[in-house]
Amino acid sequence: MTNPEPESGGERLQKVLARAGVGSRRVCEELIGDGRVTVNGDVAVLGRRIDPGADAVAVDGVPVVVDPTRVHYLFNKPAGVVTTAGDPQGRPTVVQSVPPEPRVFPVGRLDAETEGLLILTNDGELTHRLTHPSFGVDKEYLAEVEGSPGRLALRRLRGGVELDDGPTAPAAVALVAPGLVRITIHEGRNRQVRRMCEAVGHPVRRLVRTRIGPIAERRLAPGEWRALTAEEVRSLYQTTASTDAARRPR
Ligand code: URA
Repeated sequence: MTNPEPESGGERLQKVLARAGVGSRRVCEELIGDGRVTVNGDVAVLGRRIDPGADAVAVDGVPVVVDPTRVHYLFNKPAGVVTTAGDPQGRPTVVQSVPPEPRVFPVGRLDAETEGLLILTNDGELTHRLTHPSFGVDKEYLAEVEGSPGRLALRRLRGGVELDDGPTAPAAVALVAPGLVRITIHEGRNRQVRRMCEAVGHPVRRLVRTRIGPIAERRLAPGEWRALTAEEVRSLYQTTASTDAARRPR
């Protein structure tokens, strides 16, 4: 049997999908009707009921977070807060900045002095997708640098800079104002933006992450967090799905 379905109990699949930010119930019914939804790997049929805490759901092969115990926070990290779980110097940590239960972990890391957007979650699949280089999710930074990079320095930043752990991948780089550079990278190497700017002769004075894939947020004050909406979580999964497909050999 390929599509075991509890006769009673559980919740209707379209209701769970709608709550997970996939679309209206109507849209979700259509997706199910079109055979685009799987439950535990098997194509689901209309009328299917599931246990959101136990069943794995995907639309077009992209996982949908239906487990109600999963939480996703967006935090605006201030300078001086560390991304590690504990700090020998007793500095505040990002984990202490969000609710203690359920336990969450930062997705990747920002240097202690770097500010800006950081996701914390107990969703291991999303963490993997956002941090593994094969998914290559864009991260955008605003860097206030010493001096103001000229055309040559900007071209070097764009084309790839030779660092002691190898050359950086091409980056999107724009001079926003004198001494203020917007840099978008999809690698996650240690102190990468700082090292890139230093390598072209313009050390960073202040660094702020302004976007993670599709997630940009200007209203969150430093030190504040909010829960990502179901639609935002969905958009993060979708971003990693498209970059994954784009990188797959044809
Ligand atoms: N690049 C850096 O140099 N520091 C960060 O925290 C993130 C990216």
